[in-house]
Amino acid sequence: MRVTNDQIMYSDSENTIDENRFELDNNSELKVNLQSFKDSLNDSIDVIVITNSTEYLLKENILSYNNQPTDFGSELENIFHIPVINIEAIENSNLLSATEKELSYSTWHLDYFGVDHGKRQYGQESMQTIGNGFFGLRGTYLEAHANNDNYPATYVAGVFNQLATPINGRNVINEDLVNLPNAQFITFKIDDGDYFKIDEKYIMESLRSLNLKTGVLTITMLIKLADGKELKIVEKKVAGLKNFHNYYLQYSIQPLNFDGKITILTQIDATVINSNVERYRNLANKHLSTDKIENKATTSILLAHTTQSDIKLAIRADLSYPEINNANYVIDNQPEIAGQIVTFNAKTNSIYTFEKNVAIFTSLETKSTIENVVTDHEFLPNFQSAVDHSTKNWQKIWNKEDVVITGDLTAQKLLRLNSYSMTSAAQVNANKELDASVGSRGLTGEGYRGHIFWDELFDMNFYVLHSPELVKYLLMYRYNRLGAAMDYASDDDYNGAMYPWQSGMYGDEQSQEVHLNPITNKWDPDNSRKQRHVSLAVAYNVWNYYNLSNDEDFMRDYGLEMLLNIAEFWIDKAKIDKVTGKYTISNVMGPDEFHESYPGHENEGLKNNAYTNIMVSWLFQKISDLLNSESSDVIDDNLQRTNFSDEDLQKLDDVRHNLKLEFEGNILGQFEGYFALKELDFDKYRQQYGNISRMDRILKAHNDSPDNYQVAKQADTLMALFNIRESSFLDIMKELGYPISNPEKFISDNIKYYIARTTHGSTLSRVVYSMLMLKIGETKLAWKLFYEALTSDYYDIQGGTTAEGIHLGVMGATLNVVTSFFAGVDYRGQELEISPMVPEQWEEIDFNMSFKGINFNFQITSNNVSLKADQDTEVVFKGKKLPLTADQQIELSY
Ligand code: BGC
Repeated sequence: MRVTNDQIMYSDSENTIDENRFELDNNSELKVNLQSFKDSLNDSIDVIVITNSTEYLLKENILSYNNQPTDFGSELENIFHIPVINIEAIENSNLLSATEKELSYSTWHLDYFGVDHGKRQYGQESMQTIGNGFFGLRGTYLEAHANNDNYPATYVAGVFNQLATPINGRNVINEDLVNLPNAQFITFKIDDGDYFKIDEKYIMESLRSLNLKTGVLTITMLIKLADGKELKIVEKKVAGLKNFHNYYLQYSIQPLNFDGKITILTQIDATVINSNVERYRNLANKHLSTDKIENKATTSILLAHTTQSDIKLAIRADLSYPEINNANYVIDNQPEIAGQIVTFNAKTNSIYTFEKNVAIFTSLETKSTIENVVTDHEFLPNFQSAVDHSTKNWQKIWNKEDVVITGDLTAQKLLRLNSYSMTSAAQVNANKELDASVGSRGLTGEGYRGHIFWDELFDMNFYVLHSPELVKYLLMYRYNRLGAAMDYASDDDYNGAMYPWQSGMYGDEQSQEVHLNPITNKWDPDNSRKQRHVSLAVAYNVWNYYNLSNDEDFMRDYGLEMLLNIAEFWIDKAKIDKVTGKYTISNVMGPDEFHESYPGHENEGLKNNAYTNIMVSWLFQKISDLLNSESSDVIDDNLQRTNFSDEDLQKLDDVRHNLKLEFEGNILGQFEGYFALKELDFDKYRQQYGNISRMDRILKAHNDSPDNYQVAKQADTLMALFNIRESSFLDIMKELGYPISNPEKFISDNIKYYIARTTHGSTLSRVVYSMLMLKIGETKLAWKLFYEALTSDYYDIQGGTTAEGIHLGVMGATLNVVTSFFAGVDYRGQELEISPMVPEQWEEIDFNMSFKGINFNFQITSNNVSLKADQDTEVVFKGKKLPLTADQQIELSY
């Protein structure tokens, strides 16, 4: 094809190029135009060749759209999901190898061409964060200071701090994941000019390219300064996966049309504040206090601590430039900033390279004096060796967790991005040394203040298959805060453990009391803390890990104690109606955050949320099973440790069988009284607002409340079907006294009923519904919801929330939907059950996973499963048991 400002001329490979034309509507987004273009074509296409000649140096297929340089190649790939190459690539090799090369490049890279602004740029920086479970370093230009377009930040897992802000005569305390000193800062100046700042005016071309395979982020810029001096800058970042304290930077500067004096300025800047999230900017935000700055040769060390949690921090930066002769080095410290300046004479076209090795230690994971540890610390010899280490360590990770999709370039790229982000948020090498879990935004931004939610459930479904040991360390974060969860329950007059909805450093409740409604700009009350189901997610994660790993030691020492304490809370919370013999759990919210109370009531929560009650019954059943299967020593010890009495045991059994649910005909009520709520006129609001995903805010802006209507933010009533198999779900319904006579119809009717009332105001909703739609054979809708979830951060579909960090839960969950439901390898029981439903858009899904200590390899197409296990075992294939012999590949057609 050939592209002009207002049309695409194209043909198939047999014909001349200007045979067909598609008019581009310059008033619409390019994405929308390209989708219409695709819809207008009938043929299936394997590869697109653009015949425009390359106009830009840093990337091919950058063309002008609306007079803006636009990555046309990537935009086409995002719509067509096939490789897009340039004719020049064929001239240099041939069509096949050029296509394969592009496929491989594109599915392993996340690229942004050009300089973006505001929330879009913030979002891209979140997406290009490099990290290793210990820290996350946002993918910002090294030259940037925090402003409205760039937000360089560094977060370390578990480093939280509390600050008080006086609001209306009251001190509001917030606990934040702290933005640590910025040690990635490097910039330059020419002669006596000003230091270079990121400014589109001077950047002729910019390409930011994250290599998912190696973990290296490369930013290349072609710069033309106001006085006409041109330079090429190449900056690279890589994080240590094994030695997780380290990251390495390389900064190369090349004058293109002048000789002159170049000065490089680099800093560890502890003046930083937490200012990623616009609506928090008026709140107290300076978390750091600098203690000391030391310099030795070209090493700088900055020591600081967090103001309330008193976590000691030590950051070291070693600067080197072995190939630059006669450079002049000076220290440029200022209050709270360790600065280094290097000046040298540069010649046209020569490349001058600096390397900056950075190490971060905190008193959380470092037991001896950190000042000594950081002083004695040794780095790898140079940047290249850091890249080699990273490549090798990422390769080991990809061998375990790469989900390979044939036939869909976009899905492949984004699933890899999701795996990459999951691993950057947590990985064994780091987490075995840490007391930390994964926040809802990983280590990429300050949305939700870095807090840990029930989203762990969505993350762990992925981690458990590829790195079960990691899950153990993440669960220890919860175990170490069991005491805090028990205090929380006791503050509310309950026994047992009640985990907080939002958890940070200490495991106490960190949810907000108020929540900003951007439509009205008013702070509304926030009752989301009533989502007590978070404790059920913790319990589910414990069980899920145990079921997959058979880690008896964990269950004996920690797991059972957590389960019993969580159970004690629910036993206490469930109140019997003596007349009916049914138990009610009241004052809770389900995952659907729109419903906080009954109409006209405030702060009362809801009764008998179906998801909560079903999962309580599930938990009690699992505990009974464990009490029947564990040795009496283990049981006695755990019952004693948790003060679990005979009476508790009896009540556990009674509650398990008698929790109340409500039905109207075949439909299970989201909570008691649900059917008395009004139906919402969705179309009316859709017409007025277009996007109605945050219907809660819209209704509140109309002085109304979602409490009054049958409207949900996300999957709630049927969420249990995401966690447990349908057969377990039906057993629970029967045990509770609500046997389902026609399961197929029941499930289908309920899914359809609730999806019609759900606005998907959380990205987690789409993944759950995608799986549910698949279950009832609605494959088209399942695919649509899956793809929206898969691309949600890439396109920032929630209008700016990716700026505040990626959404880790949806990333883990989309991977889980692929392996558990599309590939159909369901691990939620005693054996693997395989029942694929490969989307027609894909040719094949390949992946490795472990289950009960056995490593499996799967290659699944729409009619064949090829599978291998490394030990003798059994799986269930399409309902039938199937023995497997170690290391023997078997082929199963279906
Ligand atoms: C969702 C919750 C989720 C939270 C953090 C909210 O928008 O409704 O289910 O736990 O975000 O990701």
